[in-house]
Amino acid sequence: MTVTLPSGISAEADDLSIWPASTTRLPHGALAVGGVSLAELAERFDTPAYVLDEGEVRERCRTYRAAFPEADVLYAAKAFLSRAMVRWVREEGLGLDVCSAGELELAVTAGFPPERIVLHGNAKSPRDLASALRLGVGRIVIDSASEIARIAAAVGPTGHQKVMVRVVPGVSAGGHDKIRTGTDGQKFGLSLTDGSAQHAVARILGQPQLELVGLHCHIGSQITDCKPYVTAVRRMVGLLARLRDAHGVTLPELDLGGGHGIAYRPGEPALDLPGLARRVYAELTGSCAAAGLPVPRLAVEPGRAIAGPAGVAVYRVLAVKRTGEKVFVAVDGGMSDNPRPALYGVCYAPRLVGRRSAAGPRTATVVGRHCEAGDILAADVELPGDIHPGDLLAVPVAGAYHLSMASGYNLVGRPPVVAVHEGAARLLVRRETLNDIRHRDVGD
Ligand code: LLP
Repeated sequence: MTVTLPSGISAEADDLSIWPASTTRLPHGALAVGGVSLAELAERFDTPAYVLDEGEVRERCRTYRAAFPEADVLYAAKAFLSRAMVRWVREEGLGLDVCSAGELELAVTAGFPPERIVLHGNAKSPRDLASALRLGVGRIVIDSASEIARIAAAVGPTGHQKVMVRVVPGVSAGGHDKIRTGTDGQKFGLSLTDGSAQHAVARILGQPQLELVGLHCHIGSQITDCKPYVTAVRRMVGLLARLRDAHGVTLPELDLGGGHGIAYRPGEPALDLPGLARRVYAELTGSCAAAGLPVPRLAVEPGRAIAGPAGVAVYRVLAVKRTGEKVFVAVDGGMSDNPRPALYGVCYAPRLVGRRSAAGPRTATVVGRHCEAGDILAADVELPGDIHPGDLLAVPVAGAYHLSMASGYNLVGRPPVVAVHEGAARLLVRRETLNDIRHRDVGD
């Protein structure tokens, strides 16, 4: 049953459980995040804009460190990276997972210690490898056999580099086909089943300048169940034992990747972090004891679960249209700042902010401004019936894989990122302007 509140929206639509913990309701229907009104932010920085709650990011880093006190927690930069984010993650004691020279250079030039950085990538470019070696990254994760000779040659006969091997453990997990990486038949890693992982390890052990410190796996993304991680741990420990038997080496590290799922709408499941830590450690210690192996040092690489719920996207409504049975609410952003609904069918929960409505709820589809019928931000969601151009809509859980996947479609320009913390707002990443677009276009 839908309970309608005096404000005209249902209790369900008024649910703030997936918003940053700092979110508060202000008089007249406005919302504040990090102590700053979203309506004021829209005035000051214009729309669309991403708002990032610094306190929420920091708190999420702390939650990880508390859940995995004996592990290295590496933030996956691909979810969202900026110089401020680099600083917050460093100050909170996390490491960093990067997968390009761009992410790596940004992190190191912003003061991140390179030895706490791991470089990933199924196709590392010469520039990626050159940056990694020049800056001295802690670990390079080898993703294919051909990379071994390339990295060894780049390191040189007198050099030294710690490496890991990315293993495909044969575990299927993840919120969508496009983000499942734990089984054979996709582009990442070296198979445990067909022996390519074992073969790669043997070749690395023959390269004196490469120090193999451990195994890595990343089974997928937006995983809300602990079980696939437990299975992956069991298989990875099995491989560690076989490598010890075959080569007499005891690898000291095991990196389980990221993929920890979050709720995008109230009531959706999220991965239980303390539960994950408990079950992963239980499996790790149990399997290692059974195999007569010392327990390796664990690493985890959360991206989405740190940045995602700390971000809110704020849009302004440009048009409201009724066609047939449907009401379309069109905003000033769309698939260029959030391609996730189009790519993975993700459903978001937009909400009117900035004013209180006395109108009853009605079902509407929130669409973007781009030239495609598939430019849908949220299909069939409940919004106040009097929603009109000029209103502000905010979409929570917009901190991960939004700006980092934003495109230049229709030359609209990517939105800014504004940090909010303890009542103050500051610009982290400025809006992409027409000037930026013009300046990159150097031909005629
Ligand atoms: N480690 C490795 C090696 C990864 O490839 C990834 C994500 C992560 C860690 C972090 O995963 P997370 O904890 O954020 O799920 N664009 C997609 C997600 C792609 C994830 C790619 N790899 C999305 O928007 O859902």
